[in-house]
Amino acid sequence: MEGTFTDEEKEEGDRCFKFLVEKGLDNDAIVKRFDCVAEKYDKIQAIIGNDLPMWMAESLAALYTHSRNTVSILDVAAGTGLASCEMRKRGFLHIDGLEPSEKMLEQAKKKNLYERYICDILADKTLDITDDTYNIVTVVGLSSEVFSTLPTKAFEELVRVTKSGGHILMNHFDYIFQRDDLRANLASLEDRGQWKLEDKQIKPDIAHGFTGHLHIYKVL
Ligand SMILES: C[S@@+](CC[C@H](N)C(=O)[O-])C[C@H]1O[C@@H](n2cnc3c(N)ncnc32)[C@H](O)[C@@H]1O
Repeated sequence: MEGTFTDEEKEEGDRCFKFLVEKGLDNDAIVKRFDCVAEKYDKIQAIIGNDLPMWMAESLAALYTHSRNTVSILDVAAGTGLASCEMRKRGFLHIDGLEPSEKMLEQAKKKNLYERYICDILADKTLDITDDTYNIVTVVGLSSEVFSTLPTKAFEELVRVTKSGGHILMNHFDYIFQRDDLRANLASLEDRGQWKLEDKQIKPDIAHGFTGHLHIYKVL
């Protein structure tokens, strides 16, 4: 959804962005907020110029120049499927989506963007996914307050469902990756030999004027 937007639409985009990133909410309350905005979510992302999904797809395409139509992908925090849409344009065909907001997932279903729709939350628990299922896991812009405070178990789950030699790619705003809890968790998995940071990319003005970071981990 590209184009120019009216001042009213830009104000609405701004309001909605603030509504979704408000601090002090627990995970359930955050998911409810995504339920509320699901129908207008794609338009809001276009208004604020969120390029995180496109950037993820471009980086993945650069990493996987071959076998795009055979690799299996889990898109975590799938939302309405914006990342899947961009990955599909680049030839990735086998993508499952994990997303806790039923209403967001409904939007993705309408666009037929995933093979399996998993309505679940990444948290301190085991996911209903078999070990070593995917070649790739992507995490695009998972809600800031949740992502920066995810428990270690959540990252261990991403590793568990990814095949050895596969990749986990995560992107977000730079200041999120600078938070202590998140940095400690990412480093702890590396220290324990579960994954290795293969590449770190930086892109200015990725959304709403923020700089983006993208981490690529190889699962060991
Ligand atoms: C900003 S949206 C990003 C959606 C999509 N990846 C995109 O780029 O458009 C953040 C998403 O994270 C989801 N989310 C919130 N908490 C989560 C959790 N614990 N595990 C997985 N997804 C979560 C929200 O429901 C929401 O759809």
